[in-house]
Amino acid sequence: MNEDPQRLTIPRLVLLGEPSLMRPSDAVDPCEIATDDFRQQLVVLKAAMAHYGGIGIAAPQIGWNARVFCLGLDESERYPDADPIPFSYWINPRIETASETTCWTWEGCLSVPGMRGWIQRPSSVSVSGLDQTGQERWMDLSGFAARVFQHEFDHLDGILYPQRIDQSKYLVSDALISQRELWAPDFPSKGARHTPFGDLSPIG
Ligand code: NI
Repeated sequence: MNEDPQRLTIPRLVLLGEPSLMRPSDAVDPCEIATDDFRQQLVVLKAAMAHYGGIGIAAPQIGWNARVFCLGLDESERYPDADPIPFSYWINPRIETASETTCWTWEGCLSVPGMRGWIQRPSSVSVSGLDQTGQERWMDLSGFAARVFQHEFDHLDGILYPQRIDQSKYLVSDALISQRELWAPDFPSKGARHTPFGDLSPIG
């Protein structure tokens, strides 16, 4: 298995609007997980996440139609205020329960370049799925990790964050966001105006 990111061919990103990104991905047969091909695809997925500067990436974003994603964050230019998230692979993941409490944050997506969306989702989730060795894993997630998991999970059902937007004004270009200090006081909302990337807000 070739784990040297320098020598891997990084696949191109599949972008918003491409049909393969907008349909549900297939469940992984657990027997496949130990195969060299599958393990190599996991390596490529992680390398693609690093190459494109993401904090999570789902298999359909690199043209792999499988219910697999990975996430992890040491430090990110895209989300400078986010807390670290340990790296993990998720295969055939499930969201077992989601909190009634919700929170808001600016989401971005490698498949939606140049944009951010102000999105509301459950604040915490209990999740399960297989790890890269095929072992079942359960986890309670809160904070930004819960948010990233839910975003990546949506990709496996063909859902991108713009489909989670409450109001069209909550979808904003990166160029506009970089001038946030010039926005009207409550544009596009009170919470959105003041919440840094990687932070969560209890109000919209
Ligand atoms: Ni995404």
